[in-house]
Amino acid sequence: MNSTAGATQSVIPAHLLKGQKALVTGANSGIGMATAIGLGRAGADVVVNYVADHDAAEQVVKEIKAFGVRAAAYEADVSKEDQVTGMVDRMVQEFGTIDILVANAGLQRDARLTEMTLAQWQKVLDVNLTGQFLCAREVTKEFLRRGVVPEVSRAAGKIICMSSVHQLIPWAGHVNYAASKGGVQMMMQTLAQELAPQKIRVNAVAPGAIKTPINRSAWETPEARADLLKLIPYDRIGDPEDIAYAVVGLASDLMDYVVGTTLYVDGGMTLFPGFATGG
Ligand code: BGC
Repeated sequence: MNSTAGATQSVIPAHLLKGQKALVTGANSGIGMATAIGLGRAGADVVVNYVADHDAAEQVVKEIKAFGVRAAAYEADVSKEDQVTGMVDRMVQEFGTIDILVANAGLQRDARLTEMTLAQWQKVLDVNLTGQFLCAREVTKEFLRRGVVPEVSRAAGKIICMSSVHQLIPWAGHVNYAASKGGVQMMMQTLAQELAPQKIRVNAVAPGAIKTPINRSAWETPEARADLLKLIPYDRIGDPEDIAYAVVGLASDLMDYVVGTTLYVDGGMTLFPGFATGG
């Protein structure tokens, strides 16, 4: 997927995250890619995690380096404990520390209940929920070791969980995905409560329909697009940059008092648009 993010991301203040080190999982496509580029635009050094497609990850690294910051592509499957600990250890070694985790990596394996295999259920829970747990756990060890460095940030660390409108909206035919995002919501709030006294801020972003490879079938044809727009009061499908802006803001000290919140970035999808005329 080619990125056009560079141009539109010029609205991000270039020094907002200067000197901070960010790890973005699943950063070689879609929302993760735009977010990694956005963090680089804001002055952070960025590790671009990926599990497949090394070339795409290197392309993202190249775009980030163009902002004059450091970037590197690390391969790791976030659902595998040893790979996550290896990735975080390597980042601390090579970048010195970690200030920001964007736990973004996620996938869908859709099926109606009676057709859904245990493997499909398990895979989605492993990546979308367990993967975020493992990454959050490992970076938190580094946040606690280092503590607050006031010149860098008012917080000892920031974790941003990528959730979905489906932490709130039930989604027939996607029980594994909806359950994983419902889990992300309670995991995020629990971690936020647990870690706030240590000055670690945990929040989530819940995207609606964003134009990425994960939901290509929902926006690719004019018919699908028209159907999708019926669910979006703001009448446009989101761009990955819409999510990047929210993440950059939450990661920055501009939002230092935001703790344990989910920021819905969904063009109003969670406003029950059917009730605009019905009910
Ligand atoms: C899903 C997309 C879907 C969107 C809105 C996202 O979390 O990954 O496939 O289009 O929610 O339903």
